[in-house]
Amino acid sequence: MRIAHISDIHCTFGSDFNPKMFDKAVKTLNKFEADIVFISGDLTTEGLLSEYDLAKEKLKQIESKLAIVPGNHDERNLGFKLFPEFFGEPSFVHTYDDLNFIGFASSEPDKDTGRLGRKRHKIIEKAIKETSKMTVIGFHHHLIPVPNSGREANILDDAGETLDIILRNEVPLVLMGHRHVPWGVKIHKTLLMNAGTFSCNRTRAHFGNTFNIVDIDDDVIEVTVVNVGEEKEKKMIEFNLEDGCCVNRNYD
Ligand SMILES: [Fe+2]
Repeated sequence: MRIAHISDIHCTFGSDFNPKMFDKAVKTLNKFEADIVFISGDLTTEGLLSEYDLAKEKLKQIESKLAIVPGNHDERNLGFKLFPEFFGEPSFVHTYDDLNFIGFASSEPDKDTGRLGRKRHKIIEKAIKETSKMTVIGFHHHLIPVPNSGREANILDDAGETLDIILRNEVPLVLMGHRHVPWGVKIHKTLLMNAGTFSCNRTRAHFGNTFNIVDIDDDVIEVTVVNVGEEKEKKMIEFNLEDGCCVNRNYD
């Protein structure tokens, strides 16, 4: 199964959004023919109706099935009321052929910080108990500090408790965004992955606009980072769930 993980699109009529880069990124993305495209939030910049309209229109170019959670920017200015109208339930458990995908809205209106809370922790535990399939969890905020993303800010308020639930339950894969840089690390039996920004002008240093391709094949998860502007891809991580071995080229 192939998941394309994209994040932080930042559709707006202000300076955040790079429409040319978006169009180029979607063309590249469609070539990967992913089974699911997971969008880990910040589809807009201010949560405005005009931005939601723009995001909805732009996302029509994506040819794969979408799974979408909101980010902190999407919940601004009553944007949290618009999100379900445009993109469906902000938190969900979707069952696909090979996996269970749990998506969470980690944001709260008009705050940049995020939190999952005990209710969502219980949803994780219940969903895992009820399935024999692999479970993947996705949300906007980061669970541990992300290198190359500046001074630490807006990590999940309950990051420790959330990490504990995820590690105890041996969730193999967690997909996050928010920091505008791609990164991944394996802790215990879990691979924590961050996608960079798909089409926002606020990129960091030379990271540019990127997205991640996540291939899940039997007991192996492979992650390739695709740099849209440079038209380059790099296989970043190979995680063997069977023997726990993880090759991480972030640290070659
Ligand atoms: Fe964000």
